[in-house]
Amino acid sequence: MAVLLFAFLAFSCENEEKKTEETAQKKVEYDMYKPSEMANFMNAMYIYNQQIRDQIIAGEIPKSMPLDLMTLHSAEMSDGKGRTPVWDSFVNVFIESQKTIADTLSNVELKQRYNDAITNCLNCHKTECVGPIPKIKKLLIQ
Ligand code: HEC
Repeated sequence: MAVLLFAFLAFSCENEEKKTEETAQKKVEYDMYKPSEMANFMNAMYIYNQQIRDQIIAGEIPKSMPLDLMTLHSAEMSDGKGRTPVWDSFVNVFIESQKTIADTLSNVELKQRYNDAITNCLNCHKTECVGPIPKIKKLLIQ
């Protein structure tokens, strides 16, 4: 039971191909799936950045960051996952870059600051959680 649950919870970070193969077997377990606190926070960051993206494209200046990025240090992660040295090496760099998007005094162009933050999402995801990478890439402004 515990093994099955772990297998499913690790699922959201797996790559898309694997997902399709395994979907059939996973169906039964789906009912038990409850996103971790961290997964919920990640999804909130995703939605926030989608809104920022729309604003930047529309030529607007994003308002200050509504999410408490310190949640990244405290949120519980899915079973079997913890903060690795790789996580630790990326998390603060990401937090800083996400904050600078709302820094009206910055000399760096807004679009650049935004894309830098999204690149930092991707840098951590490359090793820590590959599944959402295609989705996160869509946030980049070309
Ligand atoms: C320091 C590493 C790190 C950074 C930075 C990071 N993520 Fe994540 N992300 C993770 C890990 C690890 C998980 C898996 C969390 C879990 O399952 O508990 C995850 C999960 C996710 C998920 C899947 C949530 C779900 O429903 O399972 C999405 C979407 C996501 N991140 C988007 C983002 C976006 C967008 C950013 C940047 C704004 C970002 N992440 C920044 C490590 C990171």
